[in-house]
Amino acid sequence: MKKLLYLASKNLGKIGEYQKLLSDVNCQLALQPDSIDVLESGETFKENAAKKACEVSKKLNNYAIADDSGLCIEALNGSPGIYSSRYGDNDKSRINRVLRELQGINNRNAYFIANVCVSSPEGEIILDIEAKCFGKILSSIRGTNGFGYDPIFEEISTKLTFAEMSNEIKDKLSHRGKAIAKLIPELKKIFPDY
Ligand code: IMP
Repeated sequence: MKKLLYLASKNLGKIGEYQKLLSDVNCQLALQPDSIDVLESGETFKENAAKKACEVSKKLNNYAIADDSGLCIEALNGSPGIYSSRYGDNDKSRINRVLRELQGINNRNAYFIANVCVSSPEGEIILDIEAKCFGKILSSIRGTNGFGYDPIFEEISTKLTFAEMSNEIKDKLSHRGKAIAKLIPELKKIFPDY
């Protein structure tokens, strides 16, 4: 029987995404029960990902995977950072706030970062992966795909915004795509095929 791997998230979109990405790994992905609530109280992306994975593992006595990601802007001293999802009420207001805060500022350097942690059934972090994607913040939106800050983030090598990319290209270049690519061979060692 396949070992269970709980995804420490209540986001149904995320479980679909992980199911697809981990289809090659010999584990059964399960969603964190509604009764478990983990506060994202860490001061870094890594702390938040580790805390979510660890708490879910300990409560369920099983393996758990968690991630935390966001946008860090150089001229804003790394903001919105760990507050990326809380920088406004919705994607539009979060984008507008960033554009407002960068008005008149020439340094538009920014990166997306993703931290992914896996913890053992005992709650010990056994995998800890970080990946970044560098780019620039535009002064107005470009493109219609994606979510979050995608329309204002121009990826450095393609000069396309994440919102102008197909899913396939974004998966190759994005912080999350790179983190998952590093994660899969490591997960295969924890969940071998035999
Ligand atoms: P979380 O990792 O689900 O907590 O996401 C944090 C927040 O960072 C999201 O709500 C988005 O606002 C932002 N974010 C993370 N990854 C991306 C991305 O690939 N594109 C656009 N925004 C992102």
